[in-house]
Amino acid sequence: MVNVLGAYLLLLAVASHVQSKSQCHVGRYGPSCQYQCHCAGSAPCDRHDGSCSSGCEKGWFGAACQYGSIGFTVLENSALDWLTDQNDTTCNDVKETPVFLTLKKPISLGWSRIVVSSPARLRDVKLFYYIKNKEKSMECSGPKVNISDTIQDILCPTADSVTKVTVTINGKATRGLCSLYLSTECRSGEYGEYCNKNCNVHCAGQDNTCSHINGTCTEGCDPGYRGETCDQG
Ligand SMILES: *[C@@H]1O[C@H](CO)[C@@H](O)[C@H](O)[C@H]1NC(C)=O
Ligand SMILES: *[C@@H]1O[C@H](CO)[C@@H](O)[C@H](O)[C@H]1NC(C)=O
Ligand SMILES: *[C@@H]1O[C@H](CO)[C@@H](O)[C@H](O)[C@H]1NC(C)=O
Repeated sequence: MVNVLGAYLLLLAVASHVQSKSQCHVGRYGPSCQYQCHCAGSAPCDRHDGSCSSGCEKGWFGAACQYGSIGFTVLENSALDWLTDQNDTTCNDVKETPVFLTLKKPISLGWSRIVVSSPARLRDVKLFYYIKNKEKSMECSGPKVNISDTIQDILCPTADSVTKVTVTINGKATRGLCSLYLSTECRSGEYGEYCNKNCNVHCAGQDNTCSHINGTCTEGCDPGYRGETCDQG
């Protein structure tokens, strides 16, 4: 009898634990609600995986809209409004438009996203980058993931400082290119626009993870530390 009651109480405890774990404040998601949603129109996201039924907030992409797009300026061609407006329905309809983009500061690239106007173009899309003081471009060599038949994500793992980026579809032409989102998905433990800062060692968790935007510790602080970045002892 005591055992049955004990098991029942244990079940209750587990159930309420699961219950509390599944609830996040609106606008947050993740196992401990540590991530912020980035849905269009500030809509709430799926509390488990962060996905948005209405699409991502402008400037964000990824399955959970977790990658913040970094800025670039258009080089050698100022008539690329269709590329810089971050509107996936405005595309290049001119046959031979070269696309050279200069980044606002040298960075290491992470995941990037290319959006094209028709499925056939996805087959021939390539992303290249230039490293500071090097003339030759290199093709992004990381894995590619087709998100839909007109959207492809490419991991462009570059340890070095990337200064310039080029996209091609079918060699040189970029007809049918609609959008390019570049991100610096930082490695674990880094943050900042250029992933050049380290999360505080007093962020809780094995990897001291923090928001890659502003360094707020994602899992709270080690005992004895306070503040968003756990910098107060
Ligand atoms: C994207 O461009 C289309 C066509 O110009 C326009 O109708 C639409 O409102 C734009 N969407 C956004 C979010 O700006
Ligand atoms: C993505 O789609 C294009 C066009 O259908 C195809 O050629 C390519 O192999 C696909 N890539 C991946 C990684 O699935
Ligand atoms: C840092 O970013 C996180 C989410 O990205 C946000 O919740 C937090 O308020 C920000 N903190 C500051 C100090 O801006």
